[in-house]
Formats: sequence, C-alpha cells, structure tokens
Amino acid sequence: MTIPDAARSLIGRRLDEVPTPALLLDLDALEYNIALLSELTKRAGLGHRPHAKGHKSIEIARRQLKAGALGICCQKISEAEVFVAAGIGNILITNELVDPIKIEKACALARDAQIMLVADDPRMLSEIDKAASKAGAQMNVLIEIDLGQNRCGVSSIEEAVALAKRAADLKHIKFGGVQAYQGKLQHVSGWVQREAIVKKTTALLSDYLAALEGEGLSCEIVTGGGTGTLEADCELKTYTDVQPGSYVVMDAQYKAIGGRTSGPFALFRHALTLLSQVISVRKDWFVLDAGLKAMSSDAGQPEVIGRNDVSYSFAGDEHGILRSDSGAALQLGERIAIIPGHCDTTINLYDYYLVHQGDRVVDIWPIDARGRIA
Ligand SMILES: Cc1ncc(COP(=O)(O)O)c(C=O)c1O
Repeated sequence: MTIPDAARSLIGRRLDEVPTPALLLDLDALEYNIALLSELTKRAGLGHRPHAKGHKSIEIARRQLKAGALGICCQKISEAEVFVAAGIGNILITNELVDPIKIEKACALARDAQIMLVADDPRMLSEIDKAASKAGAQMNVLIEIDLGQNRCGVSSIEEAVALAKRAADLKHIKFGGVQAYQGKLQHVSGWVQREAIVKKTTALLSDYLAALEGEGLSCEIVTGGGTGTLEADCELKTYTDVQPGSYVVMDAQYKAIGGRTSGPFALFRHALTLLSQVISVRKDWFVLDAGLKAMSSDAGQPEVIGRNDVSYSFAGDEHGILRSDSGAALQLGERIAIIPGHCDTTINLYDYYLVHQGDRVVDIWPIDARGRIA
C-alpha cells in the first residue's frame, strides 16, 4: 500500500499538528508489549504465535517474529497472502477454509511459506488433501476443538479422534495437533472468575489430548489462548503455543476486564490511540470530529485519555459527543486522545498508523491487510 505524500510529510511533526481523526501507534508501548509476551511465554516454556488479524501490519509482524514468535496467525486467506508476499514464513490460518478456491490458494502459499490450516469436518480434510495432491504439497492441519465457545470446532472427544485419524491417514495432510481457542473466556470480567473458567476448560482440553494420545495421535502443536487468558495459560502450560492478538496494542474493552490485583487489566500498555479534535462547544456538551467512521462501536466503551471528567458517546458517522457531570471545560480545537473500545475493528478502518514516540510522529506504517476479510 502506498502512503500518500501528505501523510508522509507528517513524519517529524508534533501530534498537535496532525489532521484528525488519526490513528496513533505508540512505538515504545508497542515494543514493550512485544517484548513482554516474548518474555512471559519463554519463562513458561511456551511458544507464541501472535494473531495478526488485529494489527494487520507487516512491520508489526516482523517485530513480533524478531522477538521470538514461532510464526503469526491470520484469520483469512487473503490476509495470509499479504504477509506471505512480504516474506513472513510461518502462518497458521485459524479459521476454517471450505471454498475449494481458498484451499487451493492456501496450497499455493505453502510453496513460499509454512502454512498450517485448521479443520473441523472430514469434508474439509478431503478438499485439502485433493488440493495438496494437485499442488504436489503436504499441508499441515490442526483439528479445531470447541471447548464451549459454540463457534467452529468439534465438540466431542469421539469426533476429535475420528477427525484426527482421518487427517493422519490422508497422504497429503500432516496431522499437526489441535487448535482450541477460547474467545468467550478472554473478556471474562475479574481475575478470579477468569482463572476459574480457564482452569475448567483447560482440564477439558487435557481430556481431549489424552484421548488423542491414547489412539497414537500425538499432538505436536496445541495452540490457542488470547490476551485475557495469557497469564493463566502460561501457568497451566497445556498449550504448546499461545496466540494473543490484542496484547500488542490493547483497547478499552480489555482494560475493563480487570487485572490480577484490583484495578484495570494493565499487563500490557495501551499503544493505540485515536486522536480527535473538539469541533463544537455547546452549552451542555462538546462535539468531536470522531464518530462511527473513526472508531468501531461493536465492543468496549471508548475512553478519553487523562480525563475522567468527560465521557464519550457516538453521535453519528462523523461525530462524537463528550459530556461532563462535573462541569469540565474543553476548548474549541482542543485535541482529545481516546483509547478505542475494540482495537481490531477500529484498525480495519484505517490505511495507516501514525507511529509516534512521545509527542512526535516518527514513522508511518501501512495497515497492509486492511479490508482483507475474504
Ligand atoms: C482464533 C483466535 N486466536 C487468537 C485470537 C486473539 O485474541 P485476542 O485478540 O483476544 O488476544 C483471536 C481473536 O478473536 C482468535 O479468533
């Protein structure tokens, strides 16, 4: 993706000079988060395979790999294509591929990178085997297990064993193990509640692994886990590698789940900020230039940074409203920095990050896989 010259010219400028709304990325916070995940997983003896569906950036993926990631995860084949073209050599596609054209594309990518797929249906395995045979490849496949998410994945031990056997029997498939991602657990509020439910579902995962092992289907890879369950996953050590995504930039939704001690979840730093501006000062509220097109509204309450005397609400495509119960005074033209409610869906609205250190723009990174949803 080419960055427009007007955006490039912002490098070196102060943040109060950039046009708003703008998506900011704090380089020091990002580096801190990348290093911390690497350190925590290394200490626990686990690998990490960060999910790139949120940040969608080649530059960030490269930094994650440099810090020791085994590879990255992508959700969609079109997303994976962007990263493989950039030389990223190890990608797990964490979503089921059914369309034979997509499966063929995955087999084609396997010529240039190590590609791993997931499956929860014998028909998928047959399609993968067929396409791999045509491409002269052998595809690594993980069986996806549903531990209560009620989304994709087999939900009984019998199904898992049957599917793994089928995968192991097919000539052009290498049975690599299992994926058991638990999305619902990530945002369970309160550490005690979160840890208890992670322990319960991990015990269930162990039952699956024991049954597979008992049938001679040993799982080289047991992957799953996200930002919210990371600390518990590192203690339980049932996964061989974890795949957090949001940790790298964080968002207000994650902040609100609560940390191990009282207070917000603050294991990782907030690297992502939406910079906006007050464009109208009314008697009872202030209007910002950032609405639904600047920030997603699907999850999490956006949080105004450094100002707990105002709260944000969406007021249409291009507008947001700040209200105050305590008579806060904001000036026309004032810059307002916001932590978006949900990072993934907000990032997908932008072409690039304005990367900053302190109050200076130091670089511009394209959001390379933006809009790659197929
Ligand atoms: C399969 C899979 N793995 C990992 C993640 C990353 O989770 P998080 O962003 O909560 O760390 C997701 C997010 O939805 C996911 O779907």
